[in-house]
Amino acid sequence: MQFTDRINRIQISPTAAVLAEAEKLKAKGVDVADFGPGEPDFPTPDHIKNAAMRAIESNKSKYTPAGGILPLREAICAWHKRELHSSFEAKECVVSVGGKHSIFNVISVLIQHGDHVIIPVPCWVSFPDIVKYAGGTPVFVQTHPEDAFTVRASAIEKAITPKTKLLIVNSPCNPTGGVVPPEEYERILAVCKKHNVWLMGDECYSHFTYAPNKPYSVASAHGAKEKVIIIGSMSKTFAMTGWRIGYTLGPEALIQALVKLQSQSTSNPTSIAQYAALEAMTGTMDTVPVMLAEYAKRRKRIVEGLRAISGVTCEWPGGAFYAFPNISEHLRNGGGKQALAKSDTEIAKMLLDRAHVAVVPGEAFGAPGYLRLSYATSIERIEEGLGRLERFFARAEAAA
Ligand SMILES: Cc1ncc(COP(=O)(O)O)c(C=O)c1O
Repeated sequence: MQFTDRINRIQISPTAAVLAEAEKLKAKGVDVADFGPGEPDFPTPDHIKNAAMRAIESNKSKYTPAGGILPLREAICAWHKRELHSSFEAKECVVSVGGKHSIFNVISVLIQHGDHVIIPVPCWVSFPDIVKYAGGTPVFVQTHPEDAFTVRASAIEKAITPKTKLLIVNSPCNPTGGVVPPEEYERILAVCKKHNVWLMGDECYSHFTYAPNKPYSVASAHGAKEKVIIIGSMSKTFAMTGWRIGYTLGPEALIQALVKLQSQSTSNPTSIAQYAALEAMTGTMDTVPVMLAEYAKRRKRIVEGLRAISGVTCEWPGGAFYAFPNISEHLRNGGGKQALAKSDTEIAKMLLDRAHVAVVPGEAFGAPGYLRLSYATSIERIEEGLGRLERFFARAEAAA
């Protein structure tokens, strides 16, 4: 079959590909230590589930406005103001089918052929492909482990050209856990304003930051609203990945364009999920610190465990729930002394086949030589997985 150029420009999400391989093994009864999924292992909190059940019982099952129900848009703005000190109003908010859909739509309405979009790397797998699908060109700016993978305003400014239309900053970052300190974020905003570049802040992990980092939104900075577009999601903060609710906050004209696009594509996000999200935005947030405390324990265990493996280095992630070890010592291409394979993709495959450990290769995130391990899994599974990793790399070392 013949497909359009735009669909041929993108590839299936590599994280989805890893998940599928791990699932195949599990279906055969293999006990996989699964560090693949980028989603909380906690259930959606009861009060949110109950709100959804009430919505079903009271027949909240009709079409809603394409951009989401007004009470939810108001509640998102109030929540964002309370938690992250912004000042958006309902007309500056649109609800979408998850944060990924929000990002896809924003890029669809802002980016066209010839436009450049700056993306700090390592980056979430979907950013470059969404830009390519829209016809734009991703321009990568490297972040570095020795700088805790922080995005720097000076590096951004060097990458800006007259073609640059948008910068995407994802803090805390998937996959590195890198957090942009508020002062640096404000410098980045100043650079964007100076060069008339839109700044998209992906805040999907905003509430999973480890001390001394704190939840922060660049929308709280003075004069930010002129140039800032915020992407948020219920998925991670409220363990609601399957409900598919995300949102965009930004200038009213942009929001109207996004509503127009939704009105001719998805229509509204599921009505029941919107009522669940309304409860998430207005109800207790007790479960968030509980999850964060658990992630903090797991982070400590996994980073220490990875660092104990010969030829592996690993920074402390400042946020999110991913460890991002460098394994280039084990790669021939990385000039490694303990070379085991050509690439991290090959290592990831060997780990799945031989050690039954599922990880995502760094190449998927524009970071050859790395692996991403999600620690949104129990301490017991982390212990089991670390044991298998240690044995895998030790055998490799012995064979080298
Ligand atoms: C950095 C980042 N942004 C956005 C998303 C989208 O999440 P969702 O579409 O579930 O809201 C994800 C999900 O993994 C992510 O890691």
